[in-house]
Amino acid sequence: MSERWYEQAVVYCLEAESFQDSDGDGIGDFRGLIGRLDYLARLGVTCLWLNPIHPSPRRDGGYDITDFYTVDPRLGSLGDFAELLHQAGNRGIKVLIDLVVNHTSDEHPWFVSACSSADSPYRDWYVWSDKEPSDRYQGMVFPGEQRETWSYHRKAHAWYYHRFYDFQPDLNMANPAVRAEVKKIMGFWLQLGVAGFRMDAVPFIIELTEPDVTDPKHDFELLTELRQHVSWRAGDAVLLAEANVAPDELVHYVGDRGGSTNRIHMMFDFLLNDRLVLALARSNAEPIVEALRSTPSLPAGGQWATFLRNHDEIDLSRLTADQRAEVFTQFGPDENMRLYDRGIRRRLAPMLGGDRRRLELAYSLQFTLRGTPVLRYGEEIGMGDDLTLPGREAIRTPMQWSDQVGGGFTTSAEPVRPVVAKGRYGYRSVNVTDQRHDPGSLLAWFERMIRTLRESPEVGAGRCSPVDLELPASVLVHRADGPTGTMLFLHNLGTEPVLLDLGRLAAEADHPNQVFGNQEYADVDGLAKLELDGYGYRWIRLHRNPVG
Ligand code: NOJ
Repeated sequence: MSERWYEQAVVYCLEAESFQDSDGDGIGDFRGLIGRLDYLARLGVTCLWLNPIHPSPRRDGGYDITDFYTVDPRLGSLGDFAELLHQAGNRGIKVLIDLVVNHTSDEHPWFVSACSSADSPYRDWYVWSDKEPSDRYQGMVFPGEQRETWSYHRKAHAWYYHRFYDFQPDLNMANPAVRAEVKKIMGFWLQLGVAGFRMDAVPFIIELTEPDVTDPKHDFELLTELRQHVSWRAGDAVLLAEANVAPDELVHYVGDRGGSTNRIHMMFDFLLNDRLVLALARSNAEPIVEALRSTPSLPAGGQWATFLRNHDEIDLSRLTADQRAEVFTQFGPDENMRLYDRGIRRRLAPMLGGDRRRLELAYSLQFTLRGTPVLRYGEEIGMGDDLTLPGREAIRTPMQWSDQVGGGFTTSAEPVRPVVAKGRYGYRSVNVTDQRHDPGSLLAWFERMIRTLRESPEVGAGRCSPVDLELPASVLVHRADGPTGTMLFLHNLGTEPVLLDLGRLAAEADHPNQVFGNQEYADVDGLAKLELDGYGYRWIRLHRNPVG
């Protein structure tokens, strides 16, 4: 086992409100989630990432918070949350919560006070300008839904900055009182027992925003401070950052120039996400190889968090316009499937045409590539989306537990969002209960796959690299090397079967054997003639090192 638990975690991302309703009010809650912990433990999940749990007017999926020190009463009480932490801990499951401190809701008492008077003690907690800033229309994150980043506040008689929607005023991180408050918030939740935080919008948190400055400086020292604070309070707590930034900037989020990991522990791998989707769209492995080769390595102890789907759109902004167009043609042919000109708002199963072989291939790739895998709820049963819902809500529909009315999510006739009911992804066809009874189901496949992953510690804790061999364009062969041994992974992104000669690696092999794959193939001895189906994948243990 790695010393660092997060290197071997399987993270599962969910919104409590759409997971399981326990009291029939149509809204998922902590007690419902507690009742589903055994399901998650059986799946092999070791860590939950809960999307925001705080009180909020919910104009941005809860990322607009009005109180950082308690939970949204619709989800239960603070006591219920503490019980969730306890029950999850009993099953070896850690819990990360979203830490959304780039901004607050405009209904947060701090902002209300800040606007009421220039003398308010909270005035300097936000970012202001007395005159209209020249960069008013720059830097929008939600084009089409957001008009500007500086808005005039009548009561405050001033312009305030908001990187996101106008109802999400940015906090002024340059203010020591705000920094102290953020630390207090982190301390509070750590004291309650969370295992760390998924930090929202990190590049914007550290941006030293000023009116009329279009290229502000970044305060990376803040990350060092927060890491130090967290580590003092709870030695094994982790920070998982959302920072979709250029590759050469990434390393600064993890550590300072001394080469140590003294900032963020885990970074979402947006770059690999884009390249994975492009590779799937092209049936060509080259974009993945390119991503593995071109990304700078993180300082020791820094870890990638790998994902195919999260709670937002699949953000393709790190691709070129032509590459993005290719992906759109394959996976988002209708305008309604796209979002903000840069992304796709579909779940994986419909995006891959419901092709089970391709879904397995995609998830086998994600789970074996570098880093710690993060899985979005419902992907393990191949849930679909609801494109009649606005924006990112399309993939935030309730979890489908059974074929009963309400999909087993709720008994209420008015669920928080409609349960997908129609078509091939409706709850009558796609649900946990049916798949539980079927050993050939996608759910059963995920359980086996995750179990095998947990027996392959090289994947999360070792070094991941593409194998340099003459291969068909559709094939990726990569390896994971760690203190425990070496694993080899073969993936065919094309439809045609291939025969691979990996004999060159035979000298390193010691009784190589396939530990997982899309089917049982002929023996791997010698590695010279390895068959691989169209959309096939094979996990081969090359050798295991003696322990100790
Ligand atoms: C990033 C989150 O992932 C997204 O859902 C949210 O809308 C923005 N940050 C604003 O908080």
